[in-house]
Amino acid sequence: MSVDSDIVCGPIITIDGPAGSGKTTTAKELASRLSFRHLDSGALYRAITYALVKEGIPPERWISLVDTDLDNIGVNVSLEDAKIGICLNGEPLFSELRTTEVTECVPVVASLKVVREWLLGIQRKIGMLGNLVADGRDMGAVVFPEADLKIFLVADLEARARRRLLQNFVVSPSPEEIMTEAKIIKNRDFTDTAREFSPLRRPKDSFELDTTSLSFEEQVSLILSMAEDLTTI
Ligand code: CDP
Repeated sequence: MSVDSDIVCGPIITIDGPAGSGKTTTAKELASRLSFRHLDSGALYRAITYALVKEGIPPERWISLVDTDLDNIGVNVSLEDAKIGICLNGEPLFSELRTTEVTECVPVVASLKVVREWLLGIQRKIGMLGNLVADGRDMGAVVFPEADLKIFLVADLEARARRRLLQNFVVSPSPEEIMTEAKIIKNRDFTDTAREFSPLRRPKDSFELDTTSLSFEEQVSLILSMAEDLTTI
């Protein structure tokens, strides 16, 4: 990926929040309606995790990773036809990024300073192109502190567990299934919030939106109305 200009060419909107708050689906829809690019930063952390697992590098060695290991790991980003693609050795990655193994391991990988710094450069290069909706945990606070609009999505734990289950095609979950999923999400929230580098935090200059009782359309429309002024810049 090469970006020549030093000037950001259009607005950047950041959407951060904890697991299951609806960041990625909201960001994707928003980007599509605004004809912006969508950066799913979680997918970048997932891609590195997937590559490490696929290479058979055991978790106890992840702590010793250095920059050149990441340069050689085969993960890269393509920016063809206005879409941001994530590839491993030139092959696009999709469902591989969402396996249980990757989901369980990704918070550990995302807590490594070397990984965060390596990905920071890639994310900022994408940001230079502007017209971007970026979602994750540290988009507004660390990666794009100068973003034009920052949103922080929250929702109560049960709502987030239900959404995650629905995403995995569990349409009518039992109370036990909801409890188990809520526990998994709570653990991930803890790891993401407690880590030393770029922990999950609400940026001070962000708008907090509680989506617990909002429909998807309502939350997208609300953010769209906040973004309206930006697109005329
Ligand atoms: O969609 P979900 O909230 O389940 O997760 P994701 O956005 O795909 O992110 C997966 C994991 O990557 C998170 O649990 C974080 O540990 C990490 N992550 C991060 O540390 N910083 C980001 N900007 C995005 C994701």
